[in-house]
Amino acid sequence: MTYSRILGTGSYLPETVMTNAMLAERIETSDEWIVSRTGIRARHIAAEDQKTSDLAYLAAQRALESAGLQPADLDLIIVATTTPDMVFPSTASILQEKLGIPGVPAFDVQAVCAGFVYALATANGYIKSGMAKNVLVVGAEVMSRLLDWGDRRTCVLFGDGAGAVVVGPSDEPGILHAKLAADGRYRDILKTEAQIIGGEVEGTPYLHMDGPAVFKFAVKALSDIAEKTLAEAGVPQDSVDWLVPHQANIRIIEATAKHLQLSMEKVIVTLPEQGNTSAASIPLAFDHAVRQGRIQRGQTVLMEGIGGGFAWGALLLRF
Ligand code: ACO
Repeated sequence: MTYSRILGTGSYLPETVMTNAMLAERIETSDEWIVSRTGIRARHIAAEDQKTSDLAYLAAQRALESAGLQPADLDLIIVATTTPDMVFPSTASILQEKLGIPGVPAFDVQAVCAGFVYALATANGYIKSGMAKNVLVVGAEVMSRLLDWGDRRTCVLFGDGAGAVVVGPSDEPGILHAKLAADGRYRDILKTEAQIIGGEVEGTPYLHMDGPAVFKFAVKALSDIAEKTLAEAGVPQDSVDWLVPHQANIRIIEATAKHLQLSMEKVIVTLPEQGNTSAASIPLAFDHAVRQGRIQRGQTVLMEGIGGGFAWGALLLRF
């Protein structure tokens, strides 16, 4: 039986850092309000000429390097993003061109903040079924482009960045189990509804969110799916070495960890310096912790993410 495992990790954060104090100069907010409600202190913002595929390319190069592979070794590219370079072609196709590997299949996954878990679960299916060998999975976003910088309820929450992993075949179990879910009835509580019709943009092009409704939904959905993932994999909660959650809000992260009876010592948190980078947040946190030597080979890691759709999922792996 072929399993899939993570061979290497990489990430990239744009140079420009926007602190809460800088935001407080532009809108009616304060560092105290933002930190106490969300845990966020700063976020990285892409340069004007940086697109999602540029961020993805830098993260992908680092992941390939850490896997000891060349772009030519890849036979599939999956990019999770909700801020693609353009309506089409896919950001994965643009990334493929940047990597210089024509012919390699490439597609995007759109599951907003759950995108990376969806994409990694998809890569696992491709490898286990023998349809692909080495798969590049990237979560990349320029959320700053979707924000109304005058709307204090949303613009303080998000940041830009990219994270990537290379997944390949293995005789030993790597990805142990994944569980995905979606419920379109909740699509209105978190959305960017704009579409192009007849050359005109229809609907607001900015991110809209009902914060309290998202909060309530996220804690329950994440706790339930993480619990089910562990139960279906036959792995007890106390065998989890690390929880790598989507970095949306420290209070959502703490509530989920508490529900899973995991101490915050076992939770990777990059939110204070990065904000919510949507599909990029899990691979960014994962790479960060691997490079710090916190997450080590052989350890058991639970990832979980949730976002607009609503779409959510959890994935359990042995690194
Ligand atoms: N600075 C100062 N005041 C603010 C700010 C701000 N940045 N934002 C909102 N307020 C004000 C509001 O205007 C409101 O004032 P009012 O009562 O005079 O109208 C007051 O604070 C309370 O607003 P609420 O929206 O009720 O604030 P709440 O305590 O619920 O906190 C927050 C808002 C942080 C967004 C919270 O609802 C939350 O954490 N929700 C989860 C959403 C989330 O994490 N989304 C991330 C994207 S989704 C995802 O990735 C899963």
